[in-house]
Amino acid sequence: MNMRPTDLGSVVGAPVISLRGVRKDFSGHRVVDDLSFDVARGEIVTLLGRTGAGKTTVLNIIMGTTGIDAGAVRVAGADPFKEFKSLKGRLSVAFQNDRLLPWRTTVENAELGLLILGEDRKRARAKAIEWLANVNLAGAEDKYPHQLSGGMRQRVSLARALAVDPELILLDESFSQLDHVTSRTLRRDFCKVAREFGKTCLIVTHRIDDALEMADRVIVLGPGARIMLEMPLAEARIDQQTRDQCRAQIETALGGKDEADES
Ligand SMILES: Nc1ncnc2c1ncn2[C@@H]1O[C@H](COP(=O)(O)OP(=O)(O)O)[C@@H](O)[C@H]1O
Ligand SMILES: [Mg+2]
Repeated sequence: MNMRPTDLGSVVGAPVISLRGVRKDFSGHRVVDDLSFDVARGEIVTLLGRTGAGKTTVLNIIMGTTGIDAGAVRVAGADPFKEFKSLKGRLSVAFQNDRLLPWRTTVENAELGLLILGEDRKRARAKAIEWLANVNLAGAEDKYPHQLSGGMRQRVSLARALAVDPELILLDESFSQLDHVTSRTLRRDFCKVAREFGKTCLIVTHRIDDALEMADRVIVLGPGARIMLEMPLAEARIDQQTRDQCRAQIETALGGKDEADES
């Protein structure tokens, strides 16, 4: 077989995220019960589930801000909780709220992660401008967050996450607060960039559309973050009929249609 080193890496390399038998209790309440899954290098995976399923907790475990009560977690070769600092600069997170600093311009927000990591000022500025262009924000560099629409602000937040060139990007409901049309274009633009640069992404969401339009694979979580369904979605992204079938299967796994997903 003729493979480039990067192909080989994605086939035989260790997964970027690996959870085995993970358990997490909060004051006697089991929030994560025996969860195991992997995310391979360059893969885009969505964790889909209703509110309260434990998605954000799983993300916090992967980020290393929450410890676990049983099992094992590896992220980019490290234990994210015990070796918290080793993941600095290797992992980026974007949230539902854009978390931009209001007194910093677009470019000043986008370069923030780079400056925190100690990047040279000129290089940080140049990279931030480049990533803003990648998420279709060229021309908005000097605007302040309050001068931007919600979708544009979320683009700045994604540019800031991408600019540090992380191995792994975690998104927690990053598209959920936007209207349907804005959310769809942003999802498409984000995935285009993520795939072009071979980024490994774990996208947490309660919206089926997020999974169907973005992911290579969906993991549906029920109560206690138990896996109800795991399914490849690459074909669903291009074929309407497969997409409809996948949607129906996901709805069943979630336990029926949810009004929140209709928006
Ligand atoms: N720090 C915490 N302390 C106590 N309970 C928590 C904490 N974080 C989350 N929980 C509980 O864990 C459950 C899952 O929450 P969460 O992970 O936020 O779910 P999701 O993101 O899927 O909506 C909820 O019942 C929530 O109240
Ligand atoms: Mg959540």
